[in-house]
Amino acid sequence: MQSLIYEILGGLFFFAPALFANPLAVITGGHLVIDRGKNLRDGKRILGDGKTWSGYFGGSLLGAGVGFPFSLFGVYMFFGNFDHFKIITVLMSALSLAFGSLTGDLFGSFIKRRMGMKRGAKGNLLDMWPFVLMSFLFLLVFFRVVFFQIYGNFIDIIILLIITPLLHRGVNIIAYKMHRKDVPW
Ligand code: CTP
Ligand code: MG
Repeated sequence: MQSLIYEILGGLFFFAPALFANPLAVITGGHLVIDRGKNLRDGKRILGDGKTWSGYFGGSLLGAGVGFPFSLFGVYMFFGNFDHFKIITVLMSALSLAFGSLTGDLFGSFIKRRMGMKRGAKGNLLDMWPFVLMSFLFLLVFFRVVFFQIYGNFIDIIILLIITPLLHRGVNIIAYKMHRKDVPW
């Protein structure tokens, strides 16, 4: 039981790069709109003005950088047998999670645009689940062994799908108050 709780906590810390990437994209974002203003055949924007290269790369790299110590902490603190977690593997995993996070974010915006929702419209789960799921998918694709060692029991995935909407909401309210976002969601 105790080891299961440790595993769950370690996995949550390990996921930090994915969680930091989004708010950091808000800070670095705003330059070089990815879809360059283009519409798809449906007459709607491909991604919209809220998705920029500066946000994508800035948020991913900073997210990995800021989240990496949390990932390391998660592994060394809560995973008893951490010998096989090399520091470089944890760093690369952090990059996978952070890039996965903002790739999922692009995917979510793409779906929102197809549904006719304007930039910044409240997407509810479309604002959150794609980034969580894509982060895990990136880790699974690039670091399969790490994925199964840390998230093999899938409990963290369920927990994160439930708590990120709450975290996301809190962070966006702060971003709104800091005038980084036009709407508090
Ligand atoms: N941002 C960015 N580039 C990204 C992601 C985010 O520049 N790849 C910045 C933008 O300034 C964006 C803000 O972070 O407005 C908030 O991100 P998000 O909520 O994901 O975008 P929205 O503006 O709400 O647009 P969408 O409706 O497409 O989610
Ligand atoms: Mg948004």
